[in-house]
Amino acid sequence: MHILVTGGAGFIGSHTALALQAAGYTPLLLDDFSNSNEGVLKGLETILNEKVTCIQGNCGDLTLLRDVFKTYSIAGVIHFAAFKAVGESMEKPLQYYENNIGNLLALLRVMQEYGVHNLIFSSSCTVYGEPDSLPVTEETPVKPATSVYGNTKQVGEEILRDVARASGQLRVCALRYFNPVGAHPSGLIGELPLGVPNNLVPFITQTAAGLRPELVVFGDDYPTLDGSCVRDFIHVMDLAEAHVAALANLQKRSGYSFEVFNIGTGEGSSVLEMIALFEKVNGIKVPYRIGARRPGDVVAVYADARLAERELGWKARRSMEEALRDAWKWQLNLQSIA
Ligand code: WQD
Repeated sequence: MHILVTGGAGFIGSHTALALQAAGYTPLLLDDFSNSNEGVLKGLETILNEKVTCIQGNCGDLTLLRDVFKTYSIAGVIHFAAFKAVGESMEKPLQYYENNIGNLLALLRVMQEYGVHNLIFSSSCTVYGEPDSLPVTEETPVKPATSVYGNTKQVGEEILRDVARASGQLRVCALRYFNPVGAHPSGLIGELPLGVPNNLVPFITQTAAGLRPELVVFGDDYPTLDGSCVRDFIHVMDLAEAHVAALANLQKRSGYSFEVFNIGTGEGSSVLEMIALFEKVNGIKVPYRIGARRPGDVVAVYADARLAERELGWKARRSMEEALRDAWKWQLNLQSIA
């Protein structure tokens, strides 16, 4: 039985492919390589010591999707394929809605046509905006999105809620990720930002590697312990394993369902704490300076992840030290294969 992983050559998708294989599933990747490259497949095959099937194409291509569902016996879908740069989404709203919402609608149509009823949706803690209280639970009100990217996740969840209910047989788990960081411990796959990284940890590793002169910390005048923003950073392998737990949960069910789970560690770490921890764990300095706040950043957000533990039997178990060590190992490996 195959599990279709759209965006499967991406950062979280590729790590989830490993977790699926380890749990006895056969991952079937679909990726247009718009935000990843084929080197990821080589890394996966080296780790797994076997070939991984990856279909190159866009998840919004109905003809391609129908061909995939006709060819393979698919037990469920994990849907990652989406654009995800917050800043870019504000400059290119049409591309973001066309891609992120269009992909989802095409996938739902073909799943319906081929009687595939289990779907894991990649959502984000960004739906909470600036929470009024912490930690956030799944009951914490969703706030008006502060970015087009965030809105595509909110709208995606609403579409899934409506389509699942009307279908009577579609079962959906929307996983609200916090901040995925780190890499597979082998150092053979990891976060591969194309161009200048938006996210904190790849910027740290590239600065530590001397690829960037310095890291700019976007503000240290926030109302937090050390003045820098607080996030719930989670090891990407823990996040990957949450998808397998959610899939197993769906497969036990019948009828329709729509559920949301926070996938975080439940711990908040500040930007400055992450820099200090990276330096300590890897014994290397990260040159940085304090710059202006970045528009759209929330002060602090971290998860109450107990619902996922109760319902999915999943809990993050890897430390931030491990994540930052794995991120650094991946960066060094990237240099060696570049
Ligand atoms: C984290 C903190 C920055 C870079 C976004 C999306 C979320 C998900 C992950 C896609 C913030 C600070 C960062 C830098 C810095 N997206 N920072 N200097 O914004 O919490 O979440 O990415 O899956 O949906 O909202 O992540 O890593 O960009 O920033 O000071 O060079 O690091 O200000 O406080 P963010 P991030």
